[in-house]
Amino acid sequence: MTDPIDSAVIEQQLRHRSVRRFLDVPVGEAQLERIVEAAQRASTSSNLQAWSVIAIRDPERKRRLSQAIGGRDYVERAPVFLVWVADLARNAELLRAHGAEPETLGLIENTLLGAVDVGIAAQNALLAAESLGLGGVFVGGIRNAPEAVSAELRLPRHAFAIAGMALGTPDPEEGTGIKPRLPLSGVLHAEVYDPERWREATGRYEQDYRDYFETQGVPDRSWARTVVSRLGSAAGLHGRHAMRASLRAQGFDSE
Ligand SMILES: Cc1cc2nc3c(=O)[nH]c(=O)nc-3n(C[C@H](O)[C@H](O)[C@H](O)COP(=O)(O)O)c2cc1C
Repeated sequence: MTDPIDSAVIEQQLRHRSVRRFLDVPVGEAQLERIVEAAQRASTSSNLQAWSVIAIRDPERKRRLSQAIGGRDYVERAPVFLVWVADLARNAELLRAHGAEPETLGLIENTLLGAVDVGIAAQNALLAAESLGLGGVFVGGIRNAPEAVSAELRLPRHAFAIAGMALGTPDPEEGTGIKPRLPLSGVLHAEVYDPERWREATGRYEQDYRDYFETQGVPDRSWARTVVSRLGSAAGLHGRHAMRASLRAQGFDSE
């Protein structure tokens, strides 16, 4: 008997696409709570559960956040905008309550721990939302203005907004397709890391990427150029090059 390779979960995952346009339909509280329950079931480092999520429905708050990070209409138009927070504040308070100093919280290991916990939980939430017929998009742009975001959300020390997530009912008019990924050989290595695998795969991907955007009515797109514009200079970071200072201001010294 061959091993199964299909399941409803995998089919859902393979259908993922980011959604940036939403119908004017609210996301109910029961749905939202269910989605966050699913996020909570995600693995979490040492069960520290080092994250929180803030659900924002107030149009004015969404507008202020959008403006602070450079204007993102999907933040303003999403019926609910989630902000995923690396949160060691709870743990810091527990430490103090038990007579311990939170002396390790300033280590970069714990910055990573919080960010990884957030990523895993947030992706669980997006998948859960997609399985309910909703759609959404991660918004790393929330890190464009950490000070303003922390102030708007009243984040305490040891809490830092890692990612936003616009969530709602997809507008079918948006019409985006499923964006291709690198060929599997570009990411899957056997036993040891072999750059030859992705050298060949990135070449092939350049064509897949171009072909996909052609179908979306966007000619001459290049993955290589996307990478260069995103990573090739600090300008592509929209202010995030100063992240260490922003993290420190929230108690993530990241030493
Ligand atoms: C951490 C993270 C941050 C992201 N930030 C943004 C963002 O600020 N704005 C945006 O339009 N898309 C954002 N995205 C969505 C990616 O652009 C998208 O996932 C990628 O292009 C692949 O497209 P797909 O999700 O439709 O397959 C983000 C994705 C992740 C995982």
